[in-house]
Amino acid sequence: MRRRMAAGNWKMNGLRADLAEIAAIAALRPDCEMVLCPPATLIAPAAAALGAGGAALALGGQDCAARASGAHTGDISAEMLADAGASHVILGHSERRADHGEGDKLVAAKVAAAWEAGLVAIVCIGETEAERAAGRTLSVLAGQLARSIPDHARAGHLGVAYEPVWAIGSGRTPSPQEVQDVHAALRQGIETRFGADVAAAVRLLYGGSVKPENAAGLMSLPDVDGALVGGASLRAESFAAIVAAIDAA
Ligand code: 13P
Repeated sequence: MRRRMAAGNWKMNGLRADLAEIAAIAALRPDCEMVLCPPATLIAPAAAALGAGGAALALGGQDCAARASGAHTGDISAEMLADAGASHVILGHSERRADHGEGDKLVAAKVAAAWEAGLVAIVCIGETEAERAAGRTLSVLAGQLARSIPDHARAGHLGVAYEPVWAIGSGRTPSPQEVQDVHAALRQGIETRFGADVAAAVRLLYGGSVKPENAAGLMSLPDVDGALVGGASLRAESFAAIVAAIDAA
């Protein structure tokens, strides 16, 4: 019922010389949905290079503006991402929250802008190490989830990525049981707010140090519907191994 998703987040990495790596990822033919979010500068050239054969790989942005257009120097609108060839956008990533002071309210406005432009929003939430140590993981996530997603969410245009801040780029992950417990709680929260149909259909991704070595254990959990992969998505070989683990789950 839920088609699994393998999403790659290249963050601030990638030049035109790396388009060949994107082509190599697009050449995979998995059962799951594949989305790659390169830097915004590479979306249009990647879309052009993939052409009709790129159907197996969707492209996404890593952020968009909350406003539709106007005097906002340096910002990129959701419509611009769509115009460049993106169908998805990551919003509320913890690096945006930390580097640019983005709060839940702004994230929700960006999600609304993404929906307006017809993009699928992949909304990121995650607790810090201190919040985890204080036993506040579930309450922090429930608050982020509630405030970062506008009303009227439909499963088809929403994905949620659980990315513990302390697991990103660290080589550390929660245990599979911890991830399952969190995802089950998130799905319950989505059901309470948006109803059983949305909860059953929405994809919940895990992100944070997903590697070929740990993907099988994390991706086989009942409430994990895929991965949001940073470092290991930069090379087609390692991303392919994670995609295979998602398909095998
Ligand atoms: P890493 O896979 O490099 O830990 O990054 C995860 C992430 O932040 C994806 O959005």
